[in-house]
Amino acid sequence: MEQVPVGMTDGLPRPVYLDHQATTPVDPRVVDAMLPYLTSEFGNPSSSHVYGRAAAEAVGRARAQVAALIGARPEEVVFTSSGTESNQLALAGTAYARRAAGSGDHVVTSVIDHPATLAACAQLEQDGFRVTRLPVGTDGLVDPDDVARAAVPGTVLVSVMHASNEIGTVQPLPDIARAVRGRGIALHTDAAQSLATVVTDVTTLGVDLLSVVGHKMYAPKGVGALYVRAGTPGPAPRLVGGGQERGLRAGTENVPGIVALGAAAELALKERESDAARIRGLRDLLLGLLIEGIPGLRLNGSREHRLAGNLSLTLPATGAAALAAAVPEVAFSAGAACHTGASAPSPVLTAIGLSAAQASRTVRLGLGRYTGEDDVRTAARALVRGARGAAAVTPG
Ligand SMILES: Cc1ncc(COP(=O)(O)O)c(C=O)c1O
Repeated sequence: MEQVPVGMTDGLPRPVYLDHQATTPVDPRVVDAMLPYLTSEFGNPSSSHVYGRAAAEAVGRARAQVAALIGARPEEVVFTSSGTESNQLALAGTAYARRAAGSGDHVVTSVIDHPATLAACAQLEQDGFRVTRLPVGTDGLVDPDDVARAAVPGTVLVSVMHASNEIGTVQPLPDIARAVRGRGIALHTDAAQSLATVVTDVTTLGVDLLSVVGHKMYAPKGVGALYVRAGTPGPAPRLVGGGQERGLRAGTENVPGIVALGAAAELALKERESDAARIRGLRDLLLGLLIEGIPGLRLNGSREHRLAGNLSLTLPATGAAALAAAVPEVAFSAGAACHTGASAPSPVLTAIGLSAAQASRTVRLGLGRYTGEDDVRTAARALVRGARGAAAVTPG
């Protein structure tokens, strides 16, 4: 398979990329699929002439490709600009529509959900909704019994992410769905992190709404989708205007991005299981090498129910930021998330029982489609050397 040029730039070696939960490179096959829609096929899908029809057909094909990946029907897929927008449409769109219909004003989510979900919930709270944020166990998993208890008369929506962008844990969505079934509650999941390697089928998961994000599955940034189960009331649109996407999301479609998302979905459908097996093998190799080289290293979150490419690791003595500075040969997340810049300990890490000090010694390593065994061995050597060296100078 053709490799993306992540290894070198201008003749200079670049770090091994181990941050696939932050973003994935775009697959060259996806680039090939989208390029014509930036050049010759530039029409607006709403135009009735030949240029417009070609663009509309491409959007239709992509809709079918995304639907096939998640076991949905094409008409159940709404294209958006991002995971953030998909979550906003799912959460606020559903909450406002259901409150207006007199169904209630209570929303349930988890403490480890992505800020795009948690901030949407906080906004709803400011507008009079009640929000319950479920805890997780030390394994990073939501207990479906907690969901059953939290869902009360007046609950309109439960939103629990499928896979964690920080600790990689994959939630028991089918059990959560059973806990709310038949109670008139919409179930949403943010599947941003899972689509590239986890078999994610809306019927098996039992969800009514599911967020898709391009840049976590080898498509570009700035494109996403929301699955809305046929017959699900709402969501009310958050963007109104020209009536695109059946009135659920106005705005001229990002045709190249949508074509790319479709192509990435088709590749994921074909390759996610083989990708997952290969990546899991490399991840376990990396974990083994790190445990051997750094005594006292701790893996966070369930080992069994986790993304193939994710390791969340707490170092025994080295600060994550010090390690990142000491190991420029590896690009990884010291802040543990794709929203770095915050100095407070990650709420996800504290939710699984880590102290602030442990959280500050926690790193996230994310492997992906182009990670090779050489990358893993290089990264392991550098991280072990860095952890030993930086430990000597890291206080506490
Ligand atoms: C789980 C999860 N949900 C939502 C998002 C937001 O997606 P976007 O960056 O496309 O807005 C991300 C990553 O950024 C994510 O990891």
